[in-house]
Amino acid sequence: KPMATEWATSRIRTVPDFPKAGIQFRDITTLLADARGFRKAVDELVQPYVGVAIDKVAGIEARGFILGGAIAHQLACGFIPIRKPGKLPYRTISQSYQLEYGEDCLQIHEDAIRSGDLVLLTDDLIATGGTAEAAVKLIRQAGGTVVAACFVIDLPDLGGAQKIRDMGIEVISLCHFD
Ligand code: PRP
Ligand code: HPA
Repeated sequence: KPMATEWATSRIRTVPDFPKAGIQFRDITTLLADARGFRKAVDELVQPYVGVAIDKVAGIEARGFILGGAIAHQLACGFIPIRKPGKLPYRTISQSYQLEYGEDCLQIHEDAIRSGDLVLLTDDLIATGGTAEAAVKLIRQAGGTVVAACFVIDLPDLGGAQKIRDMGIEVISLCHFD
């Protein structure tokens, strides 16, 4: 029997036509602002990894920082930010990825991960999976192993979670929107 996820979906706000016409933006700020909602989201994201060997939690800018910081604290792991270009102060590794129109890039500090580190990747939402795929490539380039990727929201129609599973990575999400 699938687990009920209404506690999450009911706390996520949908904003029509943001950032542009036709997009139904799934806004987690309403979930994060709710004390019990935020705690439950972090608890449920952490729960499968209690007692699992993980060295670092990597969060994707920007909303992945909020979740990733809390997850890392709860798992007693280090936290690594994966950032948009030009934000990290030290030497970086870069990975570009395709957007609907054009291209973007993510960066990680070249010394953020030690060879052999076991990494849990997190973000608020997975859509096409282009962002998460770029993050996985960065972690692997830095010598890390991505143990799993976890998200509050999956948009399964866009195929991103499947794409990451096809890279040999476990993917977990708390809820989905079709
Ligand atoms: C959103 C979301 C993910 C990404 C998912 O970030 O937080 O990082 O898009 O899309 P994908 O699976 O199709 O790659 P956004 O581009 O809104 O950037 P922001 O967090 O900096 O606002
Ligand atoms: N919310 C947040 N990030 C996103 C969304 C969304 O609905 N779609 C693609 N990236």
